[in-house]
Amino acid sequence: MEFNELVYARRTVRRFTQEPIHQVALEKILKAGLAAPSPNNATPWSISVVTNGEVIQKMRHAVNDRLDLMFSTVKPDNKTVLEKVKVFSTVFANAPVVLAVFSRPYQAPIHELLADTDISPEQISELRRHPELQATGALVQNMLLAAAEEELGACWISGALVARRELEAILGVKDMHLETLVALGHREAQPHPKEPLDLEMYVNYVP
Ligand SMILES: Cc1cc2nc3c(=O)[nH]c(=O)nc-3n(C[C@H](O)[C@H](O)[C@H](O)COP(=O)(O)O)c2cc1C
Repeated sequence: MEFNELVYARRTVRRFTQEPIHQVALEKILKAGLAAPSPNNATPWSISVVTNGEVIQKMRHAVNDRLDLMFSTVKPDNKTVLEKVKVFSTVFANAPVVLAVFSRPYQAPIHELLADTDISPEQISELRRHPELQATGALVQNMLLAAAEEELGACWISGALVARRELEAILGVKDMHLETLVALGHREAQPHPKEPLDLEMYVNYVP
């Protein structure tokens, strides 16, 4: 697909068929993700590919349990909102492939410069608005575009991260932070391409 067409053809897909994803297509998507820019070219990320249905259902339970716990005191008239939050946080549960995207701390020249000060690596990351997290966003967007190019559907899911600790334990990844999930699969229906947004609403030219 031509690039401009691809950008607008990429839409969030939440309903998937159970048809598996071809390994060649999957690797193209993963490679596109890993081609993203990163701070200091540190590639501070990792992707876990989950296709085991039992693991995916464990992940779904972990998210639902965490949401039930968090909202155990919600008023009865808010229950439908909670159910909606659950649905949008567990979209991955009906996908044949779930990609779990992790970030890890990275080393940049500023860390060396500030090593002997009381400014911690966490504070540097906060000051710079979490570059490793930003990099995983670039990685995910590359994967979503690559998925659209392969005529596959995908959904970026941050809602599930309320159960980050539980999901990290299920996925068995240590020393890295789970940043987001991506559900991937053959789409049930073809979404409409996106309409471009109005530049005037979102863009300011600084005089
Ligand atoms: C950072 C981020 C987090 C998102 N989290 C969720 C989510 O938890 N559940 C979900 O169903 N969709 C999620 N989405 C998808 C958005 O709802 C979707 O991108 C938005 O409605 C625009 O639709 P489009 O992707 O088709 O352009 C997320 C998107 C982004 C960028």
